[in-house]
Amino acid sequence: MSKLLFIQTLGCAMNVRDSEHIIAELKKQDYEITQNLENADLILINTCSVREKPVHKLFSEIGAFDKVRKKGSKIGVCGCTASHLGSEIFKKAPFVDFVLGARSVSKIGVAINSPKFISTDINYDESEYAFGEFRTSPYKAFVNIMIGCDKKCSYCIVPQTRGDEISIPVQIILNEAKKAAQNGAKEIFLLGQNVNNYGKRFSNSHEKIDFSDLLNRLSEISGIQRIRFTSPHPLHMDDKFLRTFAENPKICKSIHMPLQSGSTKVLRDMKRGYTKEWYLDRALRLRELCPNLNISTDIIVAYPTENDEDFNDTMEVVGKVRFEQIFSFKFSPRPLTPAANLPLIDDKIASKRLTHLQSFHNEILDEIMAEQNGKIHEVYFEELRENGQVAGRSFSNFLVSVNGSEELLGKTKKVLIEKTQRMVLYGRVTD
Ligand code: SAH
Ligand code: SF4
Ligand code: F3S
Repeated sequence: MSKLLFIQTLGCAMNVRDSEHIIAELKKQDYEITQNLENADLILINTCSVREKPVHKLFSEIGAFDKVRKKGSKIGVCGCTASHLGSEIFKKAPFVDFVLGARSVSKIGVAINSPKFISTDINYDESEYAFGEFRTSPYKAFVNIMIGCDKKCSYCIVPQTRGDEISIPVQIILNEAKKAAQNGAKEIFLLGQNVNNYGKRFSNSHEKIDFSDLLNRLSEISGIQRIRFTSPHPLHMDDKFLRTFAENPKICKSIHMPLQSGSTKVLRDMKRGYTKEWYLDRALRLRELCPNLNISTDIIVAYPTENDEDFNDTMEVVGKVRFEQIFSFKFSPRPLTPAANLPLIDDKIASKRLTHLQSFHNEILDEIMAEQNGKIHEVYFEELRENGQVAGRSFSNFLVSVNGSEELLGKTKKVLIEKTQRMVLYGRVTD
């Protein structure tokens, strides 16, 4: 009889893919997924360390899991917090059976069978590891193209949890994408912390190609209709990348360009490597090249050296780029990072800036969404929603919902937009 696995995934798309890798490995050992914690033989939590709050929550959460779990079951802590806290997790939560860092997910098969197993080595090389095929969605396939991150952004813990940047060999990526396409996925979503720095370092002597060439090679795979990726780094957005992005018809016209701050001074303090002007030049050039482009971004407010003028620079960039989506956060000091011990900005000021940014952006977004009324978008349907609705993403990444049934899933249709909300467009299929 199969054993039951309960897995909770926090954090970014990389963690989602890591969880898929973990599930694929565990399926080889006869595990099946359950949504019911009390029945599970194995409970895994795949953690995120990027801000302080989720790390605090981790211990109360696994404590609660421990109370209700079945006798004889195991609990494992995986992912970025496992890398960063390591054996401290056993000290704070002695009932945890193993700790598996973000760079060691391939060792899950060993971890479950070795008492108090711990692997948090951020130098461990998983770049040549061909993972199993488990995928959460049959329509869209996440494909890792690199592991780790070589940047040293002053606020960020990721290089400490995922180690140095190594590109995954082209052949492994192409094979994974081909397999996904054969299994019916029409969209591939490439993952890495700095995807457009792809190809700088491999762990072995492999064919060396850059990100633009990788995109072109992937677009030749028959069956793949859409290619997305996250995150590109604004610093590496050279003209070749911009051209490839604009010209290749399979590359979805939506891009995540993490701004972090609009102030050149703060960007320098953060060690981001670009200026406000460079960022604006790249974003506005992309808008010129691709008329129906969606740009999303990440912004950190109240970085310790940010003053009112710096914050106004951020607002100015937001006003000029008119992002379709913004993920905004208050600065959160992270251990082991250069900014960890800088004096914090008063929390009231930080909150005020965050609210100000978000309400300014909501105004922009309401205008952008209202402009979609009467437009036609090509939507790839992926999700059944409540009340007889089916949803998908437009080529430019708007969430679009229509009346329909599962027949629409996995199909791309033209949709006339008839009603708009801040986060979703409603319409009807016209073909
Ligand atoms: N590689 C991506 C970011 C990965 S982390 C990039 O270069 O942009 C995802 C987002 O979390 C970051 O873009 C940043 O906005 C946010 N973040 C990272 N560290 C943070 C911190 N210490 N406090 C607040 N937000 C942070
Ligand atoms: Fe963190 Fe910077 Fe690397 Fe992104 S590029 S993961 S923000 S260190
Ligand atoms: Fe992702 Fe969080 Fe790790 S954002 S890389 S899971 S710290």
